[in-house]
Formats: sequence, C-alpha cells, structure tokens
Amino acid sequence: MADIELNPRVADRFVVLDWRDEKDDPEGFRTALVHHYEAGDVLILRNAPFEIDLDLLNRVSLPSGKQFQKLADTTFRLTSLCRADPRKVFRAAFGNDVLLYLRFRREVDRVSACLRDFARDVFRPYRYLKQGVSWRFTKTTQEGLHVDYFRKDEDLHYVRIFINVDKQPRVWTLSHSLEELIRRHYDQAGLGEVRHAPSNKVCSRLNKRVFDPMNKFAPGTMDRHFVHFAPGDVWLCETRLNSHEIYAGHRMVATGFYVDPTSMLNPAERVDARVQRALEAAGGIAR
Ligand SMILES: [Fe+2]
Repeated sequence: MADIELNPRVADRFVVLDWRDEKDDPEGFRTALVHHYEAGDVLILRNAPFEIDLDLLNRVSLPSGKQFQKLADTTFRLTSLCRADPRKVFRAAFGNDVLLYLRFRREVDRVSACLRDFARDVFRPYRYLKQGVSWRFTKTTQEGLHVDYFRKDEDLHYVRIFINVDKQPRVWTLSHSLEELIRRHYDQAGLGEVRHAPSNKVCSRLNKRVFDPMNKFAPGTMDRHFVHFAPGDVWLCETRLNSHEIYAGHRMVATGFYVDPTSMLNPAERVDARVQRALEAAGGIAR
C-alpha cells in the first residue's frame, strides 16, 4: 500500500478509494472516481482489479537512457521488432531468450488491454481519441520536479493510470498544483506574456522558468509530498495538473489516454479552461 509523507505546506490532494466498494454501488463509485480525477486529485485505488505477473515482468530490465526509457506496448510486437530501433530494445531486454520474450509480450499485451478496458468501463461517458499505453523498464532517479505538457496546442483531457509493476517501491514527489504554480509564479515565469496561449505553453513556461533552474541549482528546495508506491499499487494522476517527479523507480506501466473534453462530466474542469481561469485570476492580482 502507498506510503505518503505529507508536507503541510503543500495542499493534500490525495484521495484513497477501494475498488471493493465498487460492488455496492457501481454507478456511484465510478461517478465519484471520475469527479475526483477531473478535480485534479491524486487517486490511489486500493484492491484495483488488475492481476499482474510481477515475477515475469521483473525478469526484464532495460539500460538507462532516452532510447529505452518509455516504450509503447506495441514496441514489443514482432512487426515492430523488425525495425532497427526496437530490435535494440529486444536484444537489451531478452538476449537470445525467445521464450521469455513470448511470455513477456503476452503479459504486456494482456495488461495493456486490461487498462484500456478498465478506462472504458470506469470513465464511461468519455470519448477516447487515443489509448496509448507505455511501459518503463529502466531505472529512474530524481528526474526533477516538472509539470507534463503536450507538444502540440491541443485542448484535450488526459487520463493517466499508473501501476508500479516493480518489486521495489516507486517513489514520487508531488508539489503544488498547476493553478497554485500559476498563482505563485505568475511574474517569475512571465505568464503575462502567455496569458492567452494554450495550456501547454503555460506549462512549458513554468518548467523553463521555475522548475528547470530550481532542479539545476537548488534541487529539493520546493516543498513537496513524498509517496512510496508499493509493488502492484495503482494510482491515477493528471500529470499536467500536479507537479511531480519520479524520485526512484524501475518498472512501471502507464496510460496516456486522450479524451474529447466535451465528453467529460464537467468540461469546465479541463486543463485549458483551468489554466485560463488561473491566469485571469493571477493576472488580475498582479496588475
Ligand atoms: Fe512527468
């Protein structure tokens, strides 16, 4: 079970739900979960309905480095492995052990499919535009606090479900919410210059002007919670709305599902709308 060290100077956005409560009121449980997610809470889902062969997955490891860091589930399919880059992944992970590869690929496909089905079932009204699942088998340490952002200017909702598939805890730090960061760092990040820009520009600006210098010259100085996610733990977190850092970890699976924001329970909670409101409020104070 996740072990949370709360920092009293950072808002507590953790919500723990137990999937065993789902059977009492399936519809109500799902609605509450989706509301919490849209609100930007960090949801920890106890007794989540995923059976994962950790022994098998923990036989596979990949070297550090961008090339191997984050791999789509499809990377491990044979058709992909005929291409040069995935072939390197194959060699690094499995050597000549073809049987291990076949068992591993089956497990990756099965768990990836479970995550897609789970998201379709739980976030029932959502219209998914893309359901990408990514896997990590590289050791990661203290990557630095940041907020995620899309490369393109896209006003999309984003469903992120994480499972620690390692036998060791995965450690995250979590600091202020995106809106709180906008309020605190409006001037420092020059957000007035991007106040009509899409949210990705604002997130990128916060990373460049606030997080990157802090991570480089004064790491660890921003208040943050520490969370140790145990092996098999499942959590959901909108990583644009919650500043975060992988502090330590090795094997993980995560969804990066794009959703049409008009299908949200409350489209006003989508990131672009929240950023606009936060910029207007912070800009009004700054003037
Ligand atoms: Fe991130």
